Amino acid sequence: MREQWGSQTGFILAAIGSAVGLGNIWRFAYVAGENGGGAFLLVYLVIVLTLGLPLVVAEIAIGKRSRVDGVTAFERLAPASPWRRVGWLGVAGSALILAYYSVIAGWALRYFSAAASGTLWDRPPGGFAASFRAFIAHPLEPLGWHLGMMAISMAIVVAGVARGIERSCLWLMPMLAFIVLLLAGFALTLPGSSGGVAFLFMPQWSAVFDPRVVLAAMGQAFFSIGLGMAVYITYGGYMKPEQRIVGSAAVIVAGDTCFAIVAGLAIFPAVFAMGGNPAAGAELAFITLPDIFLAMPGGKMLANAFFLLLSAAALTSMISLLEVPVAALMQRAGLRRRTAVLAVGGAALLGGVAPALGYGPLAWLNVTGAPLLEEVDHVVSNLVLPLAGLGLALFFGWVLPAGTARDLAGMRGLAWALLLWAIRWLAPVFIIGLMLFRLLAG
Ligand code: PFF
Repeated sequence: MREQWGSQTGFILAAIGSAVGLGNIWRFAYVAGENGGGAFLLVYLVIVLTLGLPLVVAEIAIGKRSRVDGVTAFERLAPASPWRRVGWLGVAGSALILAYYSVIAGWALRYFSAAASGTLWDRPPGGFAASFRAFIAHPLEPLGWHLGMMAISMAIVVAGVARGIERSCLWLMPMLAFIVLLLAGFALTLPGSSGGVAFLFMPQWSAVFDPRVVLAAMGQAFFSIGLGMAVYITYGGYMKPEQRIVGSAAVIVAGDTCFAIVAGLAIFPAVFAMGGNPAAGAELAFITLPDIFLAMPGGKMLANAFFLLLSAAALTSMISLLEVPVAALMQRAGLRRRTAVLAVGGAALLGGVAPALGYGPLAWLNVTGAPLLEEVDHVVSNLVLPLAGLGLALFFGWVLPAGTARDLAGMRGLAWALLLWAIRWLAPVFIIGLMLFRLLAG
């Protein structure tokens, strides 16, 4: 018997666990910060609603009916067609993301451990910037924490869909919601925090139509929801027949978006109250925030909560990124779960070595001069994910007969007409348009 989720809640929490991750806290905060705050948020919300939600419905629908891994699902629905390559892109993409994602997750775990033990606060002369740079440039330390995060993820995925993935998400996700609400509640009471709220919610209208902001918002939406990487196909494949697709997709997308906004309400008010720079970039979480925590009453306790939040949110996403290739290897190569986990986990461990060392011994290893990890993340979010999303939209909207697609999604009437229009027209035109802009504008 193929594995199944124990309950509808279990499936939804596991899927939200995949969506909510470093992308919602670390990446959302700095990309929003760099792209004008409110303007970015507005564009982001429109993209999530018009592209994100329909594509999640398509992915779950494909998975739920075919009940197999991300590659075989395409083969089942369109035998002997080249469209299974979209599935391969998802499986390979998730292994690639897992490799470098685990490195950043390792940084978060290191910061949690240092905050909890108190060593984080022994600041070197150059402050948190110097200590962060020294840590990521170290030839061994980042590797050790990367290994730690991979080992925990592998232990959970080995235990299986219901006993490992579902069980861990059932208690981790409510804990994360509690921590992020606590942090936001605290940040909002700080004097001067209103600047941060205004920054996040007041759009600068000129930025709303800037194609660069739109591109960044699309990359962020795809990354944060985790679209195109066959996660929802794989997780959807463990659904029971009576579980609902559209309702689940709406809860997942809404949960992911709310989480990012509340995390933004935890971060920006604190940054503004303490006079930090909201556009500090990727180092916002690791350099700017520790300074802010140190200056805040009760800040050290909050730092523990924040880095625990970051590590645990990363963990539930890593689990899904691991499960996608594991499910494919189990199905297609007939491997046992344990062997598949060892194979994929081992490959991701090795794959993470270069990005982990790219701030130190391997700093020369890159194409544009930016650290390798940031280069890979850029290519993944702005190219691999949108391409996979495009493939998914074309497959669901054009390759599958409309009657089959509607049947898979279990939809009717106006809702179906709107969804099909978004997947057939809006998604391809929007994604191709933005990619062309990117190509031409450099
Ligand atoms: N959605 C995760 C995040 O926001 O951190 C990252 C992610 C998970 C991306 C799963 C892609 C994916 F397939």
